Amino acid sequence: MKAVAFNGSARKDGNTAILIRRVLKVLEEKGIETELIQLAGEPIRGCNACRTCYTTKNERCILDGDKVNEYVQKMKEADGIILGSPTYFSMMTPELKALIDRTGYVARANGHLFKRKVGAAVVAVRRAGGIPTFDAINHFFLISQMIVPGSSYWNIGVGNKKGEVEGDKEGMKTMEDLGRNMAWLIKKLRSKGKRKKAA
Ligand SMILES: Cc1cc2nc3c(=O)[nH]c(=O)nc-3n(C[C@H](O)[C@H](O)[C@H](O)COP(=O)(O)O)c2cc1C
Repeated sequence: MKAVAFNGSARKDGNTAILIRRVLKVLEEKGIETELIQLAGEPIRGCNACRTCYTTKNERCILDGDKVNEYVQKMKEADGIILGSPTYFSMMTPELKALIDRTGYVARANGHLFKRKVGAAVVAVRRAGGIPTFDAINHFFLISQMIVPGSSYWNIGVGNKKGEVEGDKEGMKTMEDLGRNMAWLIKKLRSKGKRKKAA
């Protein structure tokens, strides 16, 4: 069992990374292997709407100048996918949005590659705009036929300067509860999948 997490922040090891790592720690404790990929401003261009992925159907985006194709495979191989972002003007970062647009289109063009994987959004915010960010990431999971676990609050941590989110005790606890629910769900889905391949 494996979960892959993407941190869409331009700031490496910042608040979003801290929140994601708290979820990953719980997953590891529950025996789920994890990987964290920090985009940290890495150039990821947006979808050019060429729809070549729908004609080639080779699980690849034709735009080959960045790591998106590698990321499609990482997401395909994982049982759980965490997408984390700080709030930038009440939305996710452009890097995470570009990742979603391109991996999401390739996945749909190839028979819904992420179907029935477990998806969780993790958001850092200074003050406001966290909910639209959280909602937009969840919309991606839901249209991808993924399954979204809940937590004891919405998966948002409050902080501005690097590390400040650790002071948001409820936010950190929300991440722990998310990790527990995500691990529970991955295991349930995995054990069912062993008995009978999902239709
Ligand atoms: C370009 C930019 C836009 C931001 N917009 C918002 C915003 O709309 N609302 C908010 O509360 N915080 C906003 N922030 C603050 C970040 O969301 C906050 O500092 C967050 O903790 C950063 O997470 P990170 O350390 O993972 O990058 C913005 C920060 C930047 C750099």
